[in-house]
Amino acid sequence: MIKKRRTFLSLFASGLAFSVLRPSYATSFLTPSQMRGPFYPNNIPLDHDNNLIRIKNQSGTAIGKVSHLIGQVLNPLSQPIVNAQIEIWQCDALGRYKHPRDDGGRDKAFQGYGRTLSGINGEYSFKTIKPVMYPGRTPHIHMRILSKSSELITQIYVKGEPLNNRDFILNSIHNIAARNSLIIPFVSDPGYPPDELVAKFNPVILA
Ligand SMILES: [Fe+2]
Repeated sequence: MIKKRRTFLSLFASGLAFSVLRPSYATSFLTPSQMRGPFYPNNIPLDHDNNLIRIKNQSGTAIGKVSHLIGQVLNPLSQPIVNAQIEIWQCDALGRYKHPRDDGGRDKAFQGYGRTLSGINGEYSFKTIKPVMYPGRTPHIHMRILSKSSELITQIYVKGEPLNNRDFILNSIHNIAARNSLIIPFVSDPGYPPDELVAKFNPVILA
């Protein structure tokens, strides 16, 4: 009996029980949601494409480590979700959001917000900067996904960031596997320029 209980507890800790408990979604659990936070744009900027490091009709490139956030939007059966709207927003390399509540940002070349639609294989991509910390938070990128019948708002974190262990929003997800699903490596990739990083994130939502 004790052994059984221990097995279940260790399964739960590893996150396996999380998916076992949802048998109709055999392959992967839903991406956990996170709070929207106060810096979602109050006005969607004129340039809101998926390249956040340049603003149309403006010279200059954003400060920061250029990073490609790419992946597929999937349902719990790992099937692609086509035509979902994916939005991201994050602070600039100087730790400020392009939002009146944060003095409108500091890096005027950083778009701060972007959106795109998932393609035929659920694929999406953003060209942005590696997120940086600001007081009280570990580095993160906010993401919102709208599909036919569901909405997910979450945050994406950088693997290896020492502040991850102390971030109260990230650690509000108690299931370890679910929490880790939001922590993504930002690494160089042979398919991209050598000085740029790639972060792969496949959000799982209901269609
Ligand atoms: Fe934030």
